[in-house]
Amino acid sequence: MQTALIIDDDRSIVTTLEIYLEELGFSVHSAATAAKGLELLKTCHPDIVFLDLKLPDQNGLDILKEMIAAEPLCAIIIITAYATIDTAVRAVKMGAFDYLPKPFTPAQITRVIEMIKRVNKLESQVRTLKGITQEGGLITRSRRMAKILKTARQVADSTATVLITGESGTGKGLLARLIHDWSHRASAPFVMVDCAGLYENLLESDLFGHRKGAFTGAIEDKEGKLKIADNGTVFLDEVSEMTPSIQAKLLRFLQNREFERLGDTESIRVDVRVVGATNKSLEDLVAEGHFRQDLYFRMNVVELNLPPLRERPEDIRILAEFYLKRFALLNEKKVSGFTEDTLERLETYKWPGNIRELVNVIERGTILSRGNQLTFRELPPHIADSNKMPVDRESFKSLAEMEKNHIQHILSQTDSIDDASKILGIDPATLWRKRKKYNID
Ligand SMILES: Nc1ncnc2c1ncn2[C@@H]1O[C@H](COP(=O)(O)OP(=O)(O)OP(=O)(O)O)[C@@H](O)[C@H]1O
Ligand SMILES: [Mg+2]
Repeated sequence: MQTALIIDDDRSIVTTLEIYLEELGFSVHSAATAAKGLELLKTCHPDIVFLDLKLPDQNGLDILKEMIAAEPLCAIIIITAYATIDTAVRAVKMGAFDYLPKPFTPAQITRVIEMIKRVNKLESQVRTLKGITQEGGLITRSRRMAKILKTARQVADSTATVLITGESGTGKGLLARLIHDWSHRASAPFVMVDCAGLYENLLESDLFGHRKGAFTGAIEDKEGKLKIADNGTVFLDEVSEMTPSIQAKLLRFLQNREFERLGDTESIRVDVRVVGATNKSLEDLVAEGHFRQDLYFRMNVVELNLPPLRERPEDIRILAEFYLKRFALLNEKKVSGFTEDTLERLETYKWPGNIRELVNVIERGTILSRGNQLTFRELPPHIADSNKMPVDRESFKSLAEMEKNHIQHILSQTDSIDDASKILGIDPATLWRKRKKYNID
């Protein structure tokens, strides 16, 4: 189902739109302020947004840019009164899809939605022709990635636990989110738990919840994320960091879908799909005795291994171009492309931090850019510099070696110690000591 978001403080407009959109099969969210609207945009990833230009807390135009940057694939329709048509036109120039003058009719809404569908279809055909996949913000043209995405789609609707592995910054978090969005759980919560970010007690209570008084500081009952995510998905990031006692409790949950809150004896049953992620080898951790083998088997019913960016160089260019557009828009820069040698450099660099590193480099470059094109000058030194002639480290010499060679050379060109020491700028006694040290006769 498609999702729409309405950001307008006029209750009657919201209600009217809600009725039309629901009839057209949309799941509809609404917000009466810019702040709430932005928050919803980032959590419900709508396909269409209806944005009023006059909001109580901020001007709609001010948040438009941020919205486009956060959800570049979402179509934004400006709702406008007659008096603000000029601004609406400006909004369209900034990247909004279209505007609807108030009051509008159902026919107008149907027409604009048809248009969005047509444009989306054309864009997706263009991408298919170029071999690019672009779904939920995940961009790729790598065949290896396409296979992984296919498997992810196939398992999305099952309750099978999925383990996503891959180096840091390869898109594990993004893929976890997509699996949720592709599943029948999409309208229920997607809840993330960072297993590395919390102390044992806190993590346990975060995941399973606690009863008042379960530990010092537990001043009231708390619902755990497993419960909050009922009917949805829990994403356990950095699963390798769970302590043995949490591993045991999670194992029990994966076996019979039941758990207890801390300090409670009553069992809670929930219907939650678990997706785990790790950049470590759980197999190694099992071998070293740091991760339970039975839990490992339960977790990786389906394992999706995301290749590092250097193993899919065909993705570098499209990712760089996508993020350049996004950051240019966000920072009001006119840069719209790369010089060819800069792109080539990006394509040969090894990207140890993967896509996250690429995104950061493009953001920095965009901010520093002054013209229409991003050049070497805007790349961080360690990326720009390695383009210089490769250096032969074997030929590097120590200072002592150079001193020895230099003294030998001067001695061979002079007739007396006095003469040589004068040229070298040291006294004859020092020269004598150095000759002894370096075995020069
Ligand atoms: N294929 C992709 N297309 C577009 N953006 C991507 C892609 N893969 C990753 N990204 C972006 O790169 C950044 C890092 O991705 P993500 O956080 O999912 O990686 P991760 O594997 O979870 O990293 P870590 O192990 O460090 O948590 C995010 O901003 C994400 O949106
Ligand atoms: Mg992550």
